[in-house]
Amino acid sequence: MSLRTRLMLLSGLWILLIVIFFNWFIYYYILKKTTDNEVRQLWNKAKIILRDTEIHHPANWSSGLLQQYLEPDSLIRIIAPDGAVRAQVSASEELPAHPATYRTQYHTVVQNELGLLILFIQVPIVAKNNVQIGLLELGKGLNVVAAFMELLVAGLTVTTGSVLLFSPLVGFFYTKVLVHPIRQLLETMRTIRSKGNFILLSPQFTTKKDELGELGRTFNEMIMRLQENDRRQKHFVADASHELKTPLTVIESYTSLLRRWGGQDPAIRQEALNAIHSETVRLKGLIDALLRLAEVERHAQTELHPVRIAELIRSTAEQMRQAFGRDIVVRIGSEEIQCSGDEARLKQLLIILLDNAIKYSRKNVFVECDEEERYVVIRVMDQGMGIPSGELPLLFERFYRVDKARSRGTGGSGLGLAIAKQIVELHQGSIRLDSEEGKGTTATVKLPKSSLTAF
Ligand SMILES: Nc1ncnc2c1ncn2[C@@H]1O[C@H](COP(=O)(O)OP(=O)(O)OP(=O)(O)O)[C@@H](O)[C@H]1O
Ligand SMILES: [Mg+2]
Repeated sequence: MSLRTRLMLLSGLWILLIVIFFNWFIYYYILKKTTDNEVRQLWNKAKIILRDTEIHHPANWSSGLLQQYLEPDSLIRIIAPDGAVRAQVSASEELPAHPATYRTQYHTVVQNELGLLILFIQVPIVAKNNVQIGLLELGKGLNVVAAFMELLVAGLTVTTGSVLLFSPLVGFFYTKVLVHPIRQLLETMRTIRSKGNFILLSPQFTTKKDELGELGRTFNEMIMRLQENDRRQKHFVADASHELKTPLTVIESYTSLLRRWGGQDPAIRQEALNAIHSETVRLKGLIDALLRLAEVERHAQTELHPVRIAELIRSTAEQMRQAFGRDIVVRIGSEEIQCSGDEARLKQLLIILLDNAIKYSRKNVFVECDEEERYVVIRVMDQGMGIPSGELPLLFERFYRVDKARSRGTGGSGLGLAIAKQIVELHQGSIRLDSEEGKGTTATVKLPKSSLTAF
């Protein structure tokens, strides 16, 4: 059963139940109110009759005595303790058929009898010595009330019928409001699945201020993110294959050169071997970087421990100084600073930033480390060629290099900063580059401080 039919049936059923309940309530409320009034009048009449002294002498009981109190559509009778009717007057044809029963207490009855709505009250007749000598019974046919109630029932039946007829129609429109957007969403999802392209929901869906609008907006956000991921993935595959293809092409052309001429000519042989070697090193570096990137992305969840960052900066700077033979000036604000992190990854991050500073400058490189509120701030500064401001936002993209030809000379693959960004994000920190062309570049990394103590 479709959602729409289910909602329609359910809402229809509920409306019907509510209407039936209210109709029942109205019927019984009105019936009670109207009969209460009649009962009160009958009790008053009984009181008046009992004030008559003749009533208290059984010898005087007769129709004549009661006749003066008779009103249209009513009955008055006196029942003796043996159950016999001793006197009776009636202005109605039906009421005398009601069986006479002797009782010793007050009694009221309202019922549908012989197709008539009737009301009877019974009042004991008590003599001076407090002994009950008979029972006064007053009856009344509630014809007017019955006619009114009939009208009421007819009215209520018409209302219930109309509700029965119209509730599916109301349900139809009201479920349309709810089900239509869900159908639209389903259609869009099906199209995305069958055609494989990303489709957004129309603004007509997403601009609504209710929960459905919220659903639409969340769906669109999700699709946009998937689209962006897909675009980046395609971009990455294209870039990676291009980067891998270039050294392989060089290797291929040198090996064919070797096969044709290299065997005889030692100069060509040497040149080819050098080129093949350097391209293989480049290729290996590229694959290493790709693996590192994949590794960082794969272990998006890592355990963070308190790391003595001052020690780590000093030891890494020393290693880089030895490897490149370049001066690195380290300035630490406080020796005790600790950040929450993964030591191996943080070292990788420092190497990436120092490597860039060394590669793209010729003067001294500076590293600073300070505390700023809840963060440890590390700055790696160089006085090198700098980066054009328009390129700054793109540097964290994988394979992005400012001047491809120039970077190629320095052997960069354009993956360093992409890996750096992943590492920083893994530590819930941030990274930014500030640069002025011809003056130098500063890489600033902010990492959350650790509240625990390192061992
Ligand atoms: N300190 C810097 N000074 C000048 N340019 C820089 C600096 N750091 C990065 N760049 C520029 O940003 C580009 C991207 O840097 P990234 O570290 O991601 O790649 P790479 O250094 O080219 O290669 P890899 O680090 O993977 O060996 C570099 O190619 C370079 O053009
Ligand atoms: Mg680099």
